[in-house]
Amino acid sequence: MKGIVVYDTSYGNTKKIAETIAETLKESGIEVDLFDVKDVKKLSGKDYDFLVLGSPTKFGTMSLTMKFFLGKVKSEEWMNKPFAAFDTENPENVEQARLQKKEWSAAEKIAEKLRERKMNQPLPVLKALVLGQKGPLVDGEVERTEDYARQLAAKLK
Ligand SMILES: Cc1cc2nc3c(=O)[nH]c(=O)nc-3n(C[C@H](O)[C@H](O)[C@H](O)COP(=O)(O)O)c2cc1C
Repeated sequence: MKGIVVYDTSYGNTKKIAETIAETLKESGIEVDLFDVKDVKKLSGKDYDFLVLGSPTKFGTMSLTMKFFLGKVKSEEWMNKPFAAFDTENPENVEQARLQKKEWSAAEKIAEKLRERKMNQPLPVLKALVLGQKGPLVDGEVERTEDYARQLAAKLK
């Protein structure tokens, strides 16, 4: 079982969440490659059994860089493989989405695109909370991410 975790980040918060997911999966005995989206030159579904994608939430959706990257995820290579999606966003964003009953989350938008490619989603998305634009992450979010990655590992095995 080998997977790839790809993240975008401007201020390092989404990177921290990606690193936590990758480390926790490794501790669970799963092989993982971790990449900043800007460093992925080529992506082949033949090399991996699962995909984890994460982006900061910007204007209620994923970053443009992540949007372009999704173009490299070809349905014929990734179909039927599991994925997980995560983002960083502000607590007010979650509250706004709840009140408006509308998704403003990068992770939800990523998940929608990967489901369209007929990939499997074993877990709901992870929305890690940050304060303001630069962060930091809200207290306890790293631990919540570790829990999430342990659940993901259990689903993948
Ligand atoms: C241009 C811009 C737009 C943003 N829009 C949103 C938004 O719509 N909702 C939200 O919760 N956070 C928004 N944020 C805050 C980001 O989610 C936050 O900067 C990001 O999670 C930090 O992650 P990073 O450290 O990995 O870059 C925005 C930030 C920037 C810079």
